[in-house]
Amino acid sequence: MTRRVVITGASGLLGAHVMAALNRDHDVTGVDRHPWWGDEPVRLIQADLEAPDLLPRIIAEADPEVVIHCAALTNVDVCERDPGRADAVNAGLTRAIARVLAPTCLMVYISTDGVLSGQERFASEGTPPVPRTAYGRSKWRGEQAVMESTVNHLVIRTNFYGWSSGRKRTAGEWVYQSLREGRDVTLFHDVYFTPIYVVDFVDRLLALLDQPYRGVLHVGGRDRVSKEQFGRLMAEVGRFSTAHARSGSVEDAPLAASRPKDTSMTSQRCEELTALTAPSCREGLQRFLADRERTLSQRTAAGRPKLSCSPPVEP
Ligand SMILES: NC(=O)c1ccc[n+]([C@@H]2O[C@H](COP(=O)([O-])OP(=O)(O)OC[C@H]3O[C@@H](n4cnc5c(N)ncnc54)[C@H](OP(=O)(O)O)[C@@H]3O)[C@@H](O)[C@H]2O)c1
Repeated sequence: MTRRVVITGASGLLGAHVMAALNRDHDVTGVDRHPWWGDEPVRLIQADLEAPDLLPRIIAEADPEVVIHCAALTNVDVCERDPGRADAVNAGLTRAIARVLAPTCLMVYISTDGVLSGQERFASEGTPPVPRTAYGRSKWRGEQAVMESTVNHLVIRTNFYGWSSGRKRTAGEWVYQSLREGRDVTLFHDVYFTPIYVVDFVDRLLALLDQPYRGVLHVGGRDRVSKEQFGRLMAEVGRFSTAHARSGSVEDAPLAASRPKDTSMTSQRCEELTALTAPSCREGLQRFLADRERTLSQRTAAGRPKLSCSPPVEP
């Protein structure tokens, strides 16, 4: 069934992959302040979503059945230095979007594992959020804005990695480049998460759009790994040397925002709803590395070869 979909942050890491995946079968309008970088033509409105009167106009013209809200201020340290700005974008803009939608329109808010306290292994949707950073607090307020404004919502908490346009280097790309070029890199042994490759995330997101479920959902990978384990596994899969990779503590890093230590999540509810098993860290990294030279549309093409399951990584 073809649906009318609006995607905000459509030129960002996630938004662009969602655009490429949905554009084939749906009537999709993207909005971003940056240009489109995919290999297939799409309808993208290049504008600032906070510009006066723009939002109601876009929504009136596109008349969406689904809005996937990916636009955000995502730099955790920038948010820490300017929490007012973080709130304006991650909560204020989110509220403005939720309020302008028809009640029949499904609002999908992409949230983060950063709303979690960082003190619980494999947090579930029932675990109360206790964000530790300005970014996490602003995203939690964004979640609340959505929940207060419309019952027709999915609030999806995640932590993904992938290949961006190159305009802003993502964490996964930074680890890849450091390992590949043999640069000195410190990998944190004391920060745990359940990362998911962005294309695997998009597969699950698309499956969820066909479900009647509404509410909060965790969508991550199967394995709880430290940042160091993630980096070393990437090196193993990509056959990179780890001679220049050092193990370090996040406590010693000069970061503006002090990171929560364990934001691992269980994605069991998502598995039950989609019948898609959460991918292992190794599987995700194999796809990530195999996709390096592929275009956006090739990465997100339905029916791309699936990799066989591998055992979970032991922390
Ligand atoms: N990357 C992760 O690992 C991760 C983890 C957990 C959750 N998330 C969430 O997932 C979502 C997508 O993240 P991402 O990594 O794909 O982010 P991203 O690459 O930064 O993409 C977001 C895009 O939205 C744009 N944007 C922001 N505010 C805008 C505005 N007012 N008007 C128009 N465009 C605007 C950004 O432009 P600028 O770059 O100029 O701001 C950027 O192009 C976010 O909600 C984020 O909080 C991400």
